[in-house]
Amino acid sequence: MSHYLPLARVARLVGVTRSTLQRMIRDGEMMTFDGQIELDELLRVFPNVKWQADGEFERVEEIKRKAFGKRVMERALPDKEVLAERLFELGKEFAGAKSMLIYYDQIFRWLETKMDAVAEDDPEALDALQSLKIWLRQELDAVPEEVERGKALLAEESVMRVMSARVTVQPSGHEFFVEGNDTLLEAALRAGISLNYGCSNGNCGECKVRLVSGKAKKVHPHDYVFHDSDKANGAILMCSYTAITDLVIEASVTEAADIPHQSIPTKVRSVEPLDPDLASLHLTTPRSQRLHFLAGQSVTLTVDGCSGEFYVASCPCEDRHIELHIRRDNTPFSRKVFNDLAKKAPVTLEGPHGHCVIKMDSRRPAIFVAWDEGFAPIKSLIQHALSLEMAEGMELFWISEHLPHYQENLCHSWADALDNFHYRPLFAAAGAEANVAVILAEHPDLSRADFYVAGPTDFLE
Ligand code: FES
Repeated sequence: MSHYLPLARVARLVGVTRSTLQRMIRDGEMMTFDGQIELDELLRVFPNVKWQADGEFERVEEIKRKAFGKRVMERALPDKEVLAERLFELGKEFAGAKSMLIYYDQIFRWLETKMDAVAEDDPEALDALQSLKIWLRQELDAVPEEVERGKALLAEESVMRVMSARVTVQPSGHEFFVEGNDTLLEAALRAGISLNYGCSNGNCGECKVRLVSGKAKKVHPHDYVFHDSDKANGAILMCSYTAITDLVIEASVTEAADIPHQSIPTKVRSVEPLDPDLASLHLTTPRSQRLHFLAGQSVTLTVDGCSGEFYVASCPCEDRHIELHIRRDNTPFSRKVFNDLAKKAPVTLEGPHGHCVIKMDSRRPAIFVAWDEGFAPIKSLIQHALSLEMAEGMELFWISEHLPHYQENLCHSWADALDNFHYRPLFAAAGAEANVAVILAEHPDLSRADFYVAGPTDFLE
């Protein structure tokens, strides 16, 4: 019986990105059936992957090594009730497979008896039937190497299914994994998928989705009351439920225009100097009110009556943390940040604003161009693109007055860690036209990539 694996799990098992697998499928290097990959095909395409050496087994080993230290367990393992339900579901599957094997074994014995009976009635068939029986026995006793390798792969996939559940969003087709104690909403945001939500604590009902298939479990109580029609429709709240098994949910992916205006009382977590005239302001939103925004958008900050608009530099996947880059200038807000913004000081955040966001469904390479602290929205866009695993190739040009750039190490770490990421620092003194010429020399056909550019107006023009 064939065993099929979904693309998202295969990516984790073999340690490549989903976009790489999609390219292989497009190029005819790997066959799929209904978007899934058959076990034998997987072993053919990746004959040398050492299943036990990476992926979930390694994570489990890490957990065991740390003797189930509390923090590791909280982050990596699901809640014990969820764990028990997942094991129960897996147990049901194994019980089904085992009873099928017992049934096949009975059929084989029955076949042997039948063959003996035929041989008794027809001595001429005796030799042929004896050879057939010997051949069948040998085939069943010999375990081919592929079966051994397939066993290791299936074992790892089973561990993976206990540790995490896969969620497919219809109709967009986006996929994400729910790990540890995450709710569906937390897992979706961590994966960079922007689904509709509001309060994130079970009050508003904005995160309501339809459960199409699979088993979900309520892990946080909610005050929102479902209508009868919701119940009949299989509605669940993403901020209150987690996944027991792989799920399919019906939900629309949010566009910039869909996100409501929010006003959030945040607190200063820290102000860190990036260079003598630039600071990174880190804010924390309240536990029950995270900022719903998309990478590439800006917000308005107000402290003691002083306001300013800034691009968000952190990723929407970063829970309650918001980072902004503030330039030292003569505005009252900038003076406040550089002179007397203490830890835990209240800052009101309003927004988000702007429509220059990631094209989630694009498969073209993404080219990011930042001029000085235009890097803030570009950083958020890159992190969002990374969590979505969306682009086949990414390139960053960062043009600056000062080299090295203020977050040069971060850019190098992306380039070092990712095969498909290239970083190119450029010097602003060469002028806008000369720098644009460098970029165009490498990408003469602008229609072959998505460009995300942030900087001063004259450069953008
Ligand atoms: S986000 Fe408000 S109920 Fe889930």
